[in-house]
Amino acid sequence: MSVRIFEVGPRDGLQNESKNLSIDARFEFIKRLVEAGHSDIEIGAFVSPKWIPQMEGSLSLIKKVLAAYIDGPRFWALVPNAKGFEDSLESGIKNIAVFTAASETFNLKNINTSIDGSFERFNEFLPQAKKAKMRIRGYVSTCFGCPYEGKVEERAVLKVAERLLKLGVHEISIGDTIGVANPKQVNALVKKLLKLVGPKKLALHFHDTRGLALTNIYESLEQGVNMFDSSAGGLGGCPYAPGAAGNVATDDLVYMLREMKIKTGIDLDRQVGASKFIQSEVDRELPSRFLKSRP
Ligand code: HMG
Ligand code: MG
Repeated sequence: MSVRIFEVGPRDGLQNESKNLSIDARFEFIKRLVEAGHSDIEIGAFVSPKWIPQMEGSLSLIKKVLAAYIDGPRFWALVPNAKGFEDSLESGIKNIAVFTAASETFNLKNINTSIDGSFERFNEFLPQAKKAKMRIRGYVSTCFGCPYEGKVEERAVLKVAERLLKLGVHEISIGDTIGVANPKQVNALVKKLLKLVGPKKLALHFHDTRGLALTNIYESLEQGVNMFDSSAGGLGGCPYAPGAAGNVATDDLVYMLREMKIKTGIDLDRQVGASKFIQSEVDRELPSRFLKSRP
C-alpha cells in the first residue's frame, strides 16, 4: 500500500509565519524537500501581497525552482483569480490550485467574495488552464467547522466539492482549516466524499490545532483515502483563520506511515533535514513531535 503526501510547507506553512523569508531561503527549503523525495510540493501563491506578504516574490521563486528542476516533482501554486492565473502562466508552473470554502464568512474574510463569487472567478480562467493542460487542484476550506460560523453542514461541503468536480478539477483537498475535526465526524464525511469524488481524486488537509490530525488521518486511511496534505515540521496555519495552528507535520505523518509499512517515497532522515533547516530559518521551535525526538 502507498500514500501520496502533498507537501504544503513552502505555501501553507510559510504564509502564516511572522518572519518573511528571502527567496534564497524559500528556494533552499524547496530543494531539501525535493531531495527528501516528495512527489508534490506547493511552492507559492499568486495572491495579493497586501493580503499575504509572506508569499510575495512567488513569481521569481517559482521561475527559479522550475529552471533548477526540469524533471522534478509536481510543483504547485495557489491561484485565486484571473490576475493570479496570468502570473502562473508567466511562471511556467503546470499545476495550480484554486481555493474556496464551505462557509460564506470564511470565504469573505479569506478572498473577499462569496462562494458563488469564487466560482465566477474560477470560470474566468479555468477553461484556459485546461487548454494549457495544467493540472488543477480545488481546495475546500472549513469542511469540519468555521472560525466565524461554527458548525458546517456536510451538505455544504458536498455541494462545493460537486461544483469543483463539475469544473473539471483533477483533485479535491478537503480542509480542516482550524483543526476541529474528530474521527467520528471524519468517518461520516469521508464516506460520502469517497462516493462523490472517488479515492483517486480525494485529499484530506488537516491542521493540527487540537492534536487530532494524525488520528483523523488514520480514520481517513481506514476508509480508503490515500492522499494527505502536510507541512514540514508542522509549519504554518492560515492568516484568515484565527487560532489555526500548522498543518499536520510531514515528519510525524511519514513516521507513522513508515511504521505501518505504508510507502510514501519520502526519506525520513532527509525530511527531518528539511524541517530543521526551515525551523532555523523561521527561528521558532516547530511542533512536530518526531522532529523533537531527533535533536
Ligand atoms: P480583492 O481586494 O478583492 O481584489 O482581493 P481586487 O480584484 O479588488 O483587487 C484589489 C487589488 O489587489 C488590486 O491592486 C489588484 O491588482 C490586486 P491595487 O489596484 O489595489 O494596487 N490583486 C492582486 N495582486 C496580486 N495577485 C493577485 C491579485 N488579485 C488582485 N492574484 C484576492 C482578492 C483574492 C486577491 C485577495 O483576497 C487575496 O489575495 N487573498 C489571499 C488569501 C490567501 O492567500 N489566503 C490563504 C490561502 S487559503 C488557505 O490557506 C486554506 C487552505 O490551506 C486549505 C485549508 O486549510 O482550509 C488552502
Ligand atoms: Mg491550510
